Amino acid sequence: MDLISQNFEDMLKPNVELKKFPDGDSYIHILQINECKGKDVRLFHRLYPEQDSSIVQTLFILEALRAVTKSITLIAPYLPYSRQDKIFLDGEVKSAELVCSLLSRAGVKRLITLDCHFLKKEGEAKYAGLDIKNISMNTEMLEHAKSKFGGEKFDVISPDQGANYLVKDVGGKSMKKVRGGYMGSDETYRVIESLEGDFNFKGKNVLILDDMISTGATMIKAAENVRNGEAKKIVCAATHGFFIKDCLGKLRQVADEVFSTNSMPNAVAEVNVKNVLVNVK
Ligand code: R5P
Repeated sequence: MDLISQNFEDMLKPNVELKKFPDGDSYIHILQINECKGKDVRLFHRLYPEQDSSIVQTLFILEALRAVTKSITLIAPYLPYSRQDKIFLDGEVKSAELVCSLLSRAGVKRLITLDCHFLKKEGEAKYAGLDIKNISMNTEMLEHAKSKFGGEKFDVISPDQGANYLVKDVGGKSMKKVRGGYMGSDETYRVIESLEGDFNFKGKNVLILDDMISTGATMIKAAENVRNGEAKKIVCAATHGFFIKDCLGKLRQVADEVFSTNSMPNAVAEVNVKNVLVNVK
C-alpha cells in the first residue's frame, strides 16, 4: 500500500493531506487510513523544503500509521540534517543521528533515500536504529550529462573526497576540499579554505558531480578551478539542488550548464527520481 504525501504531488497522486492551522501548527490527514490496516505501507513524503515542519508532519503521519500497519517504509528523496553527523564544537548536536533515531522510534522500519551525505556510498546501512537504503543518482546524472556534451567525450570529477563514490566507477577523480571554522552570525557555514585538484583540463569537456549544491560555494570554486585549467565545456550537476539565494546565477557565470534531479523543486531539476523511488526494492 502506497501513501503519497501532498508534497510529492509533482510525481504521484497524493492521498495524505498536509495543511497548517492559522498559527502555523502542522495538520496531516491520511485519507485512506482504513486501507492501511495490517499492511506493509510505503510513505512517500519529502523532508525538504521546510525541513523542520516536514519532519514534524512525518512524525504525525507515523503516529497515525504505527497503530494500524504491519510495517512502514519512508521514501524521502533528501534526508535533511545529513551534513550534521559530526560534532566540531562542544555543545553542538549530531542532528543527523537524532533525526534518524526519531524516525526509527516513531515507527519507520526502513528509510529509502538518495545520495545521503553522511553515508558516502550506495547500498544498505544501519544508522541510529534505522535501516537505510541509500540509492545513488549518479548513473542517471551521467546519462543525462551525455546530452549536454552533444555526444563528445567528457571527464568526470567530484569537488571533494566525500563525493568520490559518485564518480570513481567511471574513472573520475576528486578534488581536495579543506573547510575552516564557522562564519556568519544568524546563518552559519563552515568556510572553504581551499579546494584544488592537480588535473589537466585543457581543451577537455568536464562534468563536476556532487551529492548536493547548497550555497554553491563548493561547486563555484570547483568550476573556477576547472575554468582556470582552460577546459572546453563545464557542466555542474548534483543530486540535490538547493541553489540557495543567487547561487544558480553565480554558478552559471563559471559553468556552461547546471542541472540536478527533482529530489527537491528547483529551476534546473532535469533528472526525474520518480522511477527510481517507485521501483525500489
Ligand atoms: C559537502 O561535503 C557536500 O558534498 C557538498 O559539497 C556541500 O555540502 C555543498 O554545499 P555548498 O553548496 O554550500 O558548498
